[in-house]
Amino acid sequence: MPNFDQSKAYAAQEEVFFDDGREVELLHFVYGKPDINQIRGNPSKVLQAIDDFGRTKKYLMNVGEDKGKIVSDLIAEVKPQTMVELGGYIGYSCILFGDAVRKAGGKRYYSLERNPEFGAVISSLVDLAGLGDVVKVAIGSSDASIKRLHDAGELKHIDLMFLDHYKPAYKPDLKLCEELKLVTPGSVLAADNVITPGNPPYLEYVRASVEQKRKWLEQPNGEGTNPDVRVGQKHINQYAKRGEPTALNASPGNPNLVYDSKLNHSFEPTGDPDAIEVSRCTGEESG
Ligand SMILES: C[S@@+](CC[C@H](N)C(=O)[O-])C[C@H]1O[C@@H](n2cnc3c(N)ncnc32)[C@H](O)[C@@H]1O
Repeated sequence: MPNFDQSKAYAAQEEVFFDDGREVELLHFVYGKPDINQIRGNPSKVLQAIDDFGRTKKYLMNVGEDKGKIVSDLIAEVKPQTMVELGGYIGYSCILFGDAVRKAGGKRYYSLERNPEFGAVISSLVDLAGLGDVVKVAIGSSDASIKRLHDAGELKHIDLMFLDHYKPAYKPDLKLCEELKLVTPGSVLAADNVITPGNPPYLEYVRASVEQKRKWLEQPNGEGTNPDVRVGQKHINQYAKRGEPTALNASPGNPNLVYDSKLNHSFEPTGDPDAIEVSRCTGEESG
């Protein structure tokens, strides 16, 4: 069960201004631990230290234990050579999944984080965990980083992608990865928070038939027209209020890709119900 502080912070999540110094405070907390020498080079102990901070000091928006297990199990099954996460925050999922990717024989875990201070915190904790050989942190907006890494020939294919950033960007970023042929048959996607706060446009897209996606592309905006399928305006407003960019790329994607997509019910660290949508790209129909 979540402790009091965490639940309270979650209940007031709209008021929690994450970039308020708590992320740097976390670094002081972790590096100030009396057992810091045992923590060095040990991903599980770094995660425990982050959990300690979240429990006793301030709430951090990390993927919880329950949802973390769904993705860790997926890593063990898929054995990705290359995994990408969209939205790294302070590096919790990056350390948990980067370690799992290394254990499964994978080579590279890219953590894409827009906020440069958060990116610096991720790099510091990844280094502390001894995962610097596997993890690469890319600072900048996810779509810009995807394009940059692709154009540099560094990122050639995404075997597994964890989406956990700006909710309205899930669908456009997936479409960009499709267009660049980073996501192809064999790729697997794990999208967080599809119940809390929810992401109807993303779910509609990964569950749509090829025929439906081709029809949408003929629309003037290249999108579906169902007014009920919108990402929560509340989420967009939250970002806009904090002065964070809300513009999205407009890639056509690849409508010919076929996904087998399923909801995996789970819980937020607070105990609130949530789910991860796992979408397996199983084929490509000819155009
Ligand atoms: C929920 S947090 C990620 C938590 C992290 N995956 C974990 O479980 O430990 C979302 C993060 O996405 C970042 N973010 C939001 N929009 C982004 C974008 N367009 N590109 C890259 N990062 C973004 C935010 O700065 C924030 O750190």
